[in-house]
This record gives sequence, structure tokens and C-alpha cells, in this order.
Amino acid sequence: MVTHAENELMTRVEGDAPLGRLMRDNYWVPFALSENLVADEAPTPVRLFGENYVAFRAPDGRIGFLDELCPHRRASLVLARAEGDGLRCIYHGWKIDVSGSVVEAPTQVVRPERFCAGVPVVHFPVHEEGGIAWVWLGGGVVPPFPDLPFNDEYGLQMVMTISVVPVNWLQGLEGGIDSVHGPILHRSAIEAILRERGNSSDTAGVRATFAAPPRYETEEAPFGLRQASLRRAEDDRTYLRVAHLFLPFVVVVPNGYAGATHVFGFAPVDDTHHLLFFGNFGETPLSLPEVSAARQDLVADPRNFASLEGDRSNSWGQDRELMKNGHWTGFDRSAIDEDAAVQVSMGPIVDRSKENLSSSDVAIAHTRRLILNTIATYEAGQLPPGSVRTPGGVRIPQPFDAVLDAGESWRELEPVS
Ligand code: FES
Ligand SMILES: [Fe+2]
Repeated sequence: MVTHAENELMTRVEGDAPLGRLMRDNYWVPFALSENLVADEAPTPVRLFGENYVAFRAPDGRIGFLDELCPHRRASLVLARAEGDGLRCIYHGWKIDVSGSVVEAPTQVVRPERFCAGVPVVHFPVHEEGGIAWVWLGGGVVPPFPDLPFNDEYGLQMVMTISVVPVNWLQGLEGGIDSVHGPILHRSAIEAILRERGNSSDTAGVRATFAAPPRYETEEAPFGLRQASLRRAEDDRTYLRVAHLFLPFVVVVPNGYAGATHVFGFAPVDDTHHLLFFGNFGETPLSLPEVSAARQDLVADPRNFASLEGDRSNSWGQDRELMKNGHWTGFDRSAIDEDAAVQVSMGPIVDRSKENLSSSDVAIAHTRRLILNTIATYEAGQLPPGSVRTPGGVRIPQPFDAVLDAGESWRELEPVS
């Protein structure tokens, strides 16, 4: 049971909120798809933790990440001209380069070079990995990037989307670790994939998730949480899937298809919005239509893949005719729309004190406990799980699925490091 005060602690991220501070001080934050940051194109507005920024790519590939407002007299640099390695403010023509220095201030006639060198510019370091651009907002020495299973060094293919979802970040995260909703909420999308791929061995895992509801077990790890779902299979054996939550932004899930692992990322835009990163990686990952866009005739917006239309007054575009014709949800564009619809329907920050959790919610309850404990111990001076400030760095193992023999334990199957 979550109290109102606990709900506030786990959800508020703006300003001095303890969780927002913890997140900014200990983790790289995903903020854009690499492919959406293109040199010489319009700068990208970014909002994180209730603050506005602007990002852009220089022709040499580097990414600039600046406070949105010009250091001169605070015009928005979202309006700026992209000029080679920097942005030129359209108001008075100051230019700020990709490293966060004012390099031209045409309005300053007295000793302009010295003047430029003395103007502070709020800017932050960016790192690209796995097709995603991540920013370090924590200040001080820039920490190493964690060893994620989809880091570029592993040479895997990545298919990734970004969406802006108008609800608090924790509703997104809880959707990402809520494995039980997959074959229910997304049943029409999954059935479509199964129809296409047939009963081949690479769909065995998905078919098993349809066959029976799982039992869940969870275990804390140095990086966050491991979640095992266990389903009874033939001959007293157990079908196992282990997903990993890398606190606080990333969930990796074995999806039961050959050659692909799902990734979810959640970045707080402010208290009532988050960025959702959703995709998959592997040697032969599913294509975008396969992974998410059920209707291939629709072209997704590369900067906002979710395409809910409307609001509560039109049930966010739900199509009842589709449902009469057999579709489970009436949202047939993508599984992401289905996730977004149910999350938005809860309201911007769901009141968790009014829920009634069932046995399928083991991982949800454990994650909440972990977040609350982490906030408390961080306030008392301890690093949180998976902090990139951890000496020696952070590694997130691959999630996996397997068939266990009777009596075999999933906890020994993979070392946690
Ligand atoms: S406000 Fe940007 S140059 Fe003046
Ligand atoms: Fe979902």
C-alpha cells in the first residue's frame, strides 16, 4: 500500500525534489534518438526535469546540449540558426559553439574576444550509445557510461523509437516492468505477429506467454532489479523469462522472438510527462512495423512515435468499430499507443493509494520499495544502485529466457555483476 506522501516522493522530479536530484546526480539521462540530431538542421528542443534545453549536432558529429535560453538576453535558442559548429541566436546574432562557449558576440564592441570568454553558458556533456543520445546533468567529473547490453561495442542492430507520453515517468516505468499485461493489452498486435511468423520455434516464447499466466519472483541486483516470470511448461518444466531493471531509466526484456531483445527507456520531462524510448536490439532485430506499428500504412513521426489522437472526451481516439470486429483495444496503430492510452487514462500522476495489487504485481511493488529505499539511503549519503559514480563502473547483464528442469533455480543461471 502506497501512501500519498510516498507517491509524491516516487513521482516528483522537478526542482529540488529528492528523486529528481538523485536521478540527475547518478545517471546518464536518455533524451533523443541519435538519428534525429542532424547537423545543419533545426535545433532540437529538449525538456528534462522541468527545465528546457536545446540540442544540436555539429558537422564533425559532436552534440551540443545547452540551456534553451540565450546567455545574452534569454531569447530561445530553439529559434537559432544552425551555423556549422554552433547556434547563432536570431535576436542579436551571438554564436554559441558545440562545446558551450560564446564564440561571437557582435553586439559587443569593446574587446569582444575577452568579453566572449567571460560569458558563462549553461551546457552539459552528451554521450551516444545504442542509437540514443544521453546527457550528464550531474556536474563535476563526467562519469563513464555504463556497460549496457546494447552498447555499440557489441555490434548489435538496434531499432528504436521515441515518444512523448503525457504522464508521470513512473507510470511509464511500471508499464515497462509489468510483463503480465503483454499478452492481454497487446494481444491483437501479438496475434498479428504470430499469424505472420507461424508456429516456428522462434515464436515458442510468445506462444508460452499466451498459454498460462506466470508466477513472478524478483531479486535486487547491484544495478536495480531482476524480474523472473515463471510459467509451467510440459514435463514438469518451467518456461523462464528474466528481465532487468537498470535503475531508474532502462528496462531490458527478453521478448521471446529469435534475435531480438526489447528495450524500454523512461526519461522524466517534468512531473507530468516522460519520454518513452522503445525498441529492440539483436543480430536480426524485428523491423519497426513488426515490433510496434501494427498498421504498416501509417508513417510514424520519428520524433513522437505514439500517435494517440484527442483526449478523454474522445477516449484518446479509441475505435469501437475495430473492437466489434475483433480488435482487443481499438488502438490498432501500435502497441505503444495501447500502452500510452492506458497510462494516460490513469491521469497525469496516478493515485497509487487507491490501487488493489494482485499477485502479478510482485515486481511493481518491489520496484516501488526499491525506489523509496533508494531515496532514503541516498539522502543518508549512500550511492543508489547502478549509480554511474560507482567505482569500477556499472554492467547490466543481458536479460534471457530459458526452459528450466524440475527443481532448477533461475537465480543461479546468470551471475549478477
Ligand atoms: S538574446 Fe540572443 S543574442 Fe541577444
Ligand atoms: Fe505494453
